[in-house]
Amino acid sequence: MLITPKDNRQVYLRKLKSKDFDKLFIYLQHLSEDTKKRFGPHLFDRRSIIDVYSNTDFYSGYIAIDIESADIIAYAIIKIGYLEHDASRLQSYGVMLSNTSDCTFAPSVADEWQSCGVGNSLFQFILSELKATKVKRIFLWGGVQASNKKAVNFYKRNAFVILGQFYHLGDNYDMLLDIL
Ligand SMILES: CC(C)(COP(=O)(O)OP(=O)(O)OC[C@H]1O[C@@H](n2cnc3c(N)ncnc32)[C@H](O)[C@@H]1OP(=O)(O)O)[C@@H](O)C(=O)NCCC(=O)NCCS
Repeated sequence: MLITPKDNRQVYLRKLKSKDFDKLFIYLQHLSEDTKKRFGPHLFDRRSIIDVYSNTDFYSGYIAIDIESADIIAYAIIKIGYLEHDASRLQSYGVMLSNTSDCTFAPSVADEWQSCGVGNSLFQFILSELKATKVKRIFLWGGVQASNKKAVNFYKRNAFVILGQFYHLGDNYDMLLDIL
């Protein structure tokens, strides 16, 4: 899928493939410290990328590519099911978790491309793919830092609702989207 988020630059959205791993590594290395602190579904070294995506039954990556430079400019990951690490906290809100109809989501956009619609478009692309699967709900990967206004607004704009609040190195929200 093609979008034109800024300066007439065309950006292509698609699923991550193994041939993209080197470019994904470069993308992750170039994120600012601020963005890295907010996005951490896995470590940013090559081995971790290969390890995560050796399990394609559970993990899917999605990328946005700037056609002009051929660089990856956004990356998001979906894990089918919930994170064991988050399970008891999510259950404390009265949620019944499922490893087939729930999934867990973490998005990132390169710093120079943030706030121009790439995150929204990539999320809508992922949502359209998920609608063709058994997944009915999306949780956030480890919640979202309450201080991360950009991300909190991004999730609210995409119809996520706040399930509850927890403390980990500051206040965080757990948020959920029911796929209609
Ligand atoms: C959060 C993130 C994925 C959003 O992607 P994005 O491409 O920057 O967001 P978009 O431009 O698509 O904006 C979508 C919505 O997000 C919100 N948003 C985006 N930039 C914003 C900003 N600078 N200030 C406040 N809200 C903002 C707005 O509600 C916006 O809706 P609008 O288009 O009606 O204004 C991206 O900013 C990012 O990678 N941030 C750093 C890593 C991170 O925080 N990941 C999430 C961890 S939980």
